[in-house]
Amino acid sequence: MTEFTAIEHPNPTPQEKITEALANPGFGTQFTDHMVTVEWTEDGGWQNAKVEPYGPISLDPAASVLHYASEIFEGMKAYRHSDGSIYTFRPEQNAARFNRSAKRMALPEIPEDLFVQSLEQLLAKDKAWVPGGEGESLYLRPYSFATEAFLGVRPSKEVRYMVIASPAGNFFGGELKPVKIWVSRDYVRAAPGGTGAAKTGGNYAGSLVAQEQAAANGCQQVLFLDPLHENSVEELGGMNVFLVTNDGRVLTPELTGTILEGVTRSALIQLAKDRGLTVEERRITLDEWAAGAADGTITEAFACGTAAAVTPIGELLDGDKTISHTGDYSTTLALREELLGIQTGKVEDRHGWLH
Ligand code: COI
Repeated sequence: MTEFTAIEHPNPTPQEKITEALANPGFGTQFTDHMVTVEWTEDGGWQNAKVEPYGPISLDPAASVLHYASEIFEGMKAYRHSDGSIYTFRPEQNAARFNRSAKRMALPEIPEDLFVQSLEQLLAKDKAWVPGGEGESLYLRPYSFATEAFLGVRPSKEVRYMVIASPAGNFFGGELKPVKIWVSRDYVRAAPGGTGAAKTGGNYAGSLVAQEQAAANGCQQVLFLDPLHENSVEELGGMNVFLVTNDGRVLTPELTGTILEGVTRSALIQLAKDRGLTVEERRITLDEWAAGAADGTITEAFACGTAAAVTPIGELLDGDKTISHTGDYSTTLALREELLGIQTGKVEDRHGWLH
């Protein structure tokens, strides 16, 4: 167990202000009173663990992250159950992925127990910020970045790990409704041997121009393709993608090293199998998706991720072509309800996913 120094916020947010914030959580705009910081040096390892008041941090202008984007992050959520208890979902999976990202980005791995403890420490201080409404949670954002003041290009000898938290409702805003997706033909997200499987800020920075095109075309997310493999479907700007067929199959792109191994993705694969659906993790071309949607064999499509949970896809805009799904999303919504049910304590946690 790492000893955390706890520094109380001198002016914690009054309960009525927290209640106001939780009434309309949105996504990622409001932050709780505390944050976690743990420092790492090449010589001393992880040290100086603190949970302290949320606030601006200071960095040397030469800090390596500001120049070479040496950064990794995770996204996870804490859920309030009806008895007031607070649970996270498979945090060891996020710890493992964080460390895979760390390896790829030449940042230090963090012991799983320190990662999990850092979440517990923050939640112990800020549990009043965990909303309990339908589809709501406290989004937790652990991240590490290179702080050494050095412009040479090599792994940093000093790194900081932090966790901040933000109340979250529907990622796409408002009520749950099918989203429109823009197919990116001008930009790719990742290539073999690249950083596509790592959760690193640069992947998201690189998606923003495509995301802007999406928004300019009335879409909420962008779909990236793999042009090296007949335009097979990769993932959306910030989430994985699934298709549902009319003969009991669920399709999702296989993990080829260019897409992110979603924790929600893996949970949904398990829940789909539990329902007797056949899960196919394989390459899916956009042509197959378009043909299946047109002849009625692919009936549903959805996006999934920690932030997005499970969100139906209504339309895919590919230049002047449109792929439409107009079904009842029965499988999508059943999977969503079951996953959210487990996370919020309404459905039995038969896989032992809650922490
Ligand atoms: C998440 O689902 O937690 C993500 O990291 C997506 C995001 C970039 C908001």
